[in-house]
Amino acid sequence: MSRSIWSGLDIKAPKELPIGVFDSGVGGLTIVKEMLNILPKESIIYLGDTARVPYGGKSCETVLRFTKEAVDFFITKGVKLLLIACNTSSSLALPYLGEDYDLAMLGVVDAGAEEAVKVSRVKRIGVIGTKATIASGIYERKIKELDSKIEVFSSSCPLFVPLVEEGWAEDAICYRIAERYLKELKNKKIDTLILGCTHYPLMKKIIQYGIGESVALIDSAKLFVKQVRRLLSNCDKLSAGVNPSYEFYVTDEANQFSQMSRLFLGSNLAQAQRVELKEHKNVSNFNKV
Ligand code: DGL
Repeated sequence: MSRSIWSGLDIKAPKELPIGVFDSGVGGLTIVKEMLNILPKESIIYLGDTARVPYGGKSCETVLRFTKEAVDFFITKGVKLLLIACNTSSSLALPYLGEDYDLAMLGVVDAGAEEAVKVSRVKRIGVIGTKATIASGIYERKIKELDSKIEVFSSSCPLFVPLVEEGWAEDAICYRIAERYLKELKNKKIDTLILGCTHYPLMKKIIQYGIGESVALIDSAKLFVKQVRRLLSNCDKLSAGVNPSYEFYVTDEANQFSQMSRLFLGSNLAQAQRVELKEHKNVSNFNKV
């Protein structure tokens, strides 16, 4: 059974420790941007696996192995909570991490699924994400667990990620691509669409155009961070820090990440540092879910 954000996550580490944020690359900065507003007193350690991005077309085994290596990194660093900002890792790897780790971890899927169920009036919900996220069927499962009468329609939009990274998120060319990707979903008469990928909040305008103005877009980044704040507050783990610190790590060239981060954060970052992740060999627990 995969865990829900409200399933009694046990945060054992002291509240002063930073929150870890993991993503396959730069996209998880959409979560960091929300954290800077919603959780301004929290220190953050961010890791982007830029040497191996994109995860969106990779197999479950590979995404699980890469995610485990990232979790090992955060354990070495010492964080009180690890947020898996990457939808692909949240969908393919998080359900398998289970009891292997003593670290509290949350993925972004529950927040988006729960909000979509609340928002949809006609009980027809769309989901867009990477190929791997959509193939995992996780959003559909989560939504059906919450309300079995809801119909879920999914579609992968793989070109959106490179378009955002190219800085073309609002370019004229994107309107045609969005129309093409979203045509089928539009015909399904959905009233709610989950943006199931770190990059999609940056393409909201285009996605709204492609799916139609009447469809509510669920931006899980903001919702997720709000839920994290509530969760930390409920278990008295919000930091009272006055000088939060921010550390950014990447597995490939750091300058490129820092430049691209402006697209996602709208401001300059402190320089990222390059790290080497250690190999994690144990990927044999696929049957736990
Ligand atoms: N961060 C990934 C996600 O949210 C998008 C980029 C990738 O494919 O790695 O699914």
